[in-house]
Amino acid sequence: MTSNLDKKKLDDRITEYILADAVPENISKTEVAKQPEFYKIPKRFGSIPVDELPLGCDKEKQYYKIYPRIPLPFQRADRITFGYPEQTPNRLFWGDNLHVMRMLPSNSVDLIYIDPPFFSGRNYNVIFGDQNEIRSFTDIWEGGMPSFLIWMNARLLEMKRLLKQTGSIYLHLDWHASHYVKIEMDKIFGYDNFRNEIIWHYGQRTMHNKKKWNSKHDVILFYAKSDKTIIKNIPTEPWTKEEISEKRARRILFDDDGREYILDNRSVSKGYPAKKQYIDDIIKKGKAIDDVWNMPMILSTSKERLGYPTQKPEYLIERIINASSSPGDVVADFFCGGGTTPCVSQRLGRRWIACDQSRVAVGITQGRIQSLYEEEKSIQSKLIPSPDVSIEYWGNYEIPSLIELSSLDFRYFVIAAYGGRISSSESYIHGYKSDIPLFVGPSSPENRITKEDVISFAREISTKKGKREGVILAWAFAPSAHAAVEKLISEGRAGVDLIKISPIEIESTRFRDHITRLHEDYDSFLTFIIPPLVRFSSQYLGNKTCVFDVSESMAMNNGAKIINVQWDFDFQDRFTPSRGFAYGRDDEGKPLYKVQFTFVRSGKKSIACRIQDDVGGEKIYHDYVIIE
Ligand SMILES: C[S@@+](CC[C@H](N)C(=O)[O-])C[C@H]1O[C@@H](n2cnc3c(N)ncnc32)[C@H](O)[C@@H]1O
Repeated sequence: MTSNLDKKKLDDRITEYILADAVPENISKTEVAKQPEFYKIPKRFGSIPVDELPLGCDKEKQYYKIYPRIPLPFQRADRITFGYPEQTPNRLFWGDNLHVMRMLPSNSVDLIYIDPPFFSGRNYNVIFGDQNEIRSFTDIWEGGMPSFLIWMNARLLEMKRLLKQTGSIYLHLDWHASHYVKIEMDKIFGYDNFRNEIIWHYGQRTMHNKKKWNSKHDVILFYAKSDKTIIKNIPTEPWTKEEISEKRARRILFDDDGREYILDNRSVSKGYPAKKQYIDDIIKKGKAIDDVWNMPMILSTSKERLGYPTQKPEYLIERIINASSSPGDVVADFFCGGGTTPCVSQRLGRRWIACDQSRVAVGITQGRIQSLYEEEKSIQSKLIPSPDVSIEYWGNYEIPSLIELSSLDFRYFVIAAYGGRISSSESYIHGYKSDIPLFVGPSSPENRITKEDVISFAREISTKKGKREGVILAWAFAPSAHAAVEKLISEGRAGVDLIKISPIEIESTRFRDHITRLHEDYDSFLTFIIPPLVRFSSQYLGNKTCVFDVSESMAMNNGAKIINVQWDFDFQDRFTPSRGFAYGRDDEGKPLYKVQFTFVRSGKKSIACRIQDDVGGEKIYHDYVIIE
């Protein structure tokens, strides 16, 4: 029976579910921008053959026809506590960003920065090696540029929906696709909302090349959601003294007290006296920044470097976040990779949403945010009160944490995943799907559905006018439960006539078919995963040095293999990867199964490793070693 307290909790859950589902059911209401006349028929150059709609967009159904919407629930997998739990947490999602975005409310984001795969080459774009990443990239790649653009457009249109009217979007690309995407962005956001093509010139190490100039820049397309968008904090760069005297063609002079100045005599011809401009004042004001940004790549010695190929430097993202958002604004990155945007946003006191379809990427981001927390803890006076970070999964779900849910939360999750709606009023009917009553079994797979459950559920259905069938959703069914189902159909039982009960196991294809039948690519969604089996050994080599080995560990999910091992050599409650051990691959790309580490001091050491497989199974293993 459901107690009053349970009912209240369930009602809260229902509200939450409805909120998450508040996004339009079938059709996005996002307007594709109207094309200005001059864009269609330029006065001097004849017409440019552009369509009004972005590639792949259907007039009525937009991208919902190609990629149907699938409203699956989020699984709250973890939380990083920054000490302000009362504030709504920042959110890090593991899942395909198109579907994650479709679960988020419109007009809620101030700034989007994205750094999607550049369409630059098959292997280069698959960074982490997760099966989802490989599968989706192979599909995009095989369809060529049009298929990449359609894939990108569907996502850009969702981003437009999420942005507030005052919002900005920065899209990071390079020469491989930037010109094609620019045309699509013009159609989606409007030619008039294009603000800049920023050139990030990272220069350095140019080789001789007889065929072309060396490509040493990326392109960042900056669009506004509307003409209400502004650069909130105009960034400046410091002048050097040489630049000041050179640019203004003035000699540096000295005041009586030794203060340096130049004489600005630009207005002398209009009869005004030459103006003294003090060098320190000019430097303080700074010089305005244009659309060519000279910034190096992350140096190999840099503390922020994680070691995977497409990581962007924090100073680049910092410039964008500082310019186009203010503290407290919501920043989003739906291709977050190793978490540069969320990390900088957290540090600068912005609220944020981040997403990646690679579990390895999400693990790295999580570790990076955790390190930030450790840093903040060690700084006496915290500058910005930071909200917590909630780590949430969409589409692939971890069985161990589902088992730990309360029966109420488990019920909420299962019914939402099955595409039903929750009901808090009846004791055996937990929800409905297409008006068919649903009953959800216990969260632990060890507690199977019994004959008594089947009969009680059937009895309650029979009290409902016109209802003659029901569905039981559970991890497992006892043989007696199956027998009871059969008997109810053939004979009727316990005063209940001809009630058809369908037993559906949560991990079965029947449970998932409302998702998988919508699209051939959706067969990876609504899957359940288990953690790898970790086999750990250590060997002390002397001189405070130890070798740690997990090479005998095994991925336990069907067809999966281990792809990443991170290490924490000072484990305290929360996994925080040690520097240089966050992206756990050796030079040949194999996971860091075997590592050597030298401790500074002897004593009992608490160490841990996080092992991830390529379908998202993950396990944190913790142990102690004695260092003499
Ligand atoms: C170029 S990397 C981003 C690197 C990031 N800017 C950084 O500094 O670490 C692109 C990321 O997009 C992710 N990705 C690709 N397709 C995705 C999708 N459909 N949904 C979510 N993430 C996706 C990849 O897994 C990869 O981590």
